Amino acid sequence: MTSLAVELTAVAQAAFAAEGLSPELGVVQISDRPDLAQFQCNGALPAAKQAKANPRAIAEKIAARLKTNPLFAKVEIAGPGFINLDVTDAALESRVGAAAKDTRLGAPQAGTGKAAVIDFGGANVAKPMHVGHLRSSVIGDSLQRLFRANGWNVVSDVHLGDWGLQMGQLISEIGHRGLAPIYFDPNFTGPYPGESPVTMDDLEEIYPAASAACKADPARLEEARKATAELQAGRHGYRALWQHFFAVSRIGLEREWGSLGIHFDLWKGEASVEPLMAPMIEDLNARHVAEESEGALVIRVARNGDKKEMPPLILVKSDGAVLYGSTDLATIVDRVRSQNPDLILYVVDQRQHQHFEQVFRAARKAGLNGKAELEHAGFGTMNGPDGKPFKTREGGVMKLYDLIAMVTEEADKRLTEAGLGADYSAEERASIAKMVGIATLKFADLSNYRLTDYIFDLARFSKFEGKTGPYLQYAAVRIQSILRKAAEEGHKTGAPVVRSAEERKLALQLLSLPDVMTTAEERRAPNMLCDYAFTLAQEFSRFYSEHHILSEADTALRAARLGLCELTLKTLSKVLDLLGIEVPARM
Ligand code: ARG
Repeated sequence: MTSLAVELTAVAQAAFAAEGLSPELGVVQISDRPDLAQFQCNGALPAAKQAKANPRAIAEKIAARLKTNPLFAKVEIAGPGFINLDVTDAALESRVGAAAKDTRLGAPQAGTGKAAVIDFGGANVAKPMHVGHLRSSVIGDSLQRLFRANGWNVVSDVHLGDWGLQMGQLISEIGHRGLAPIYFDPNFTGPYPGESPVTMDDLEEIYPAASAACKADPARLEEARKATAELQAGRHGYRALWQHFFAVSRIGLEREWGSLGIHFDLWKGEASVEPLMAPMIEDLNARHVAEESEGALVIRVARNGDKKEMPPLILVKSDGAVLYGSTDLATIVDRVRSQNPDLILYVVDQRQHQHFEQVFRAARKAGLNGKAELEHAGFGTMNGPDGKPFKTREGGVMKLYDLIAMVTEEADKRLTEAGLGADYSAEERASIAKMVGIATLKFADLSNYRLTDYIFDLARFSKFEGKTGPYLQYAAVRIQSILRKAAEEGHKTGAPVVRSAEERKLALQLLSLPDVMTTAEERRAPNMLCDYAFTLAQEFSRFYSEHHILSEADTALRAARLGLCELTLKTLSKVLDLLGIEVPARM
């Protein structure tokens, strides 16, 4: 199924072609002025330029052809040659009827046959997740859902930070504390204990201490660097310790992401490409893509005409350690070998833009990216009410699980205020509060264009009115309850009819779902889905307040209106699902 705008475009393009004009100019889009028309086609203006003719005269000719098509209820020319279009109610009805029968609700399948790796989450082993990782997780998850819905074959990879200096810092701190001496004993040949000498809680205490020690004392930093290089070079005891860090961190991270409903196909990390590193470096050396510079091995990526300085990508430092850029490059090799994707999309903080530019240039220069397009989808920061990166009340870094607890508590308060769920079991009530809390968080994050910084205003984002996650959940729950009552009263649902202004607007919004899914994918912009869901809920609410539904005496009309309710619910739930937001059974 295609959207109505796509269908009308085909009609207009045929009219352009019949007039001997470039058919690609016949694009029909949803009108920017819904008060004047449902759709518009602006192609007569560029067509006139090409043909050196009068745009209004061209518009007249196109309009005359469109008027012969029974799809249109109105074909009008406005201004210098814009064509304004309305379709008939019968046309809307048949399309809405078809959408109601389509399990995919007309979702575009343009991604069929294409594969994408989406790299998001990116938490670091042994460090708690913070709100910076939250944005990557929430935006990345929405994009993986959207790409899949559009037909792409998506593999998501969490790409954990598990190979850098923080590993050496942890190891050397544990050595200093004498916590697990056998891992440091050069004469011990294994096997090492299966149980980790440290828990996640231990790591959360040890890492900040280790990092502080390295900041205060250059000798400690040197030790940590050495431990990092030795770990990477394969020292057995260090590798065994590292395995434990990874395993205990993964359990904690899986629990946190799981509670947000976020899942990854692959749990790889920087370290997982270690076996590819030496052969890759050897190859880059042999082909002279990499070169020696002050004891390090680098790939030069600067180009003439660069507006900003573009430093070379450092592959291997003079002490033998590899860096973030080296593991990212080897990860491209790994992904091309295992998935051969058409696209690798990195959903990472915009502040890492230069890093990705270096990696992408290096990969292309070395021909490592296969057929894959490499793209960084960056995002801005989530700030607190003071306009600075979100902190706890005490001024510390806000951890993700504290944030989830905070939004859940706020949701619970709001439910009480609104008198919702007062008579539910404590268990159901807690589960609703959690869903509403997470919707607050995710919608707040997704409703802004990803590159803009935003202020997380809990009081505003947790309201049941306005453009919020809880409002949309509530809208869906309300439709569910109408349909439940209808079923209890034995009312049937039928094919929707479109007669009133409210029904028309609701139908048009429902039918534009494929368009928004396409553009949101193209721009990597889940905020467009948020706008869509909000408008849909508003159109529904206007329809609901102007029409009798359950109380409609005409059985056929009641069934048709229930049909519209049902399609609205399916569509709203689908879009919320693309945003990673669940709808409670009741509220
Ligand atoms: N671990 C990194 C960080 O916390 C993010 C990783 C992003 N992905 C990547 N392939 N570099 O900043």
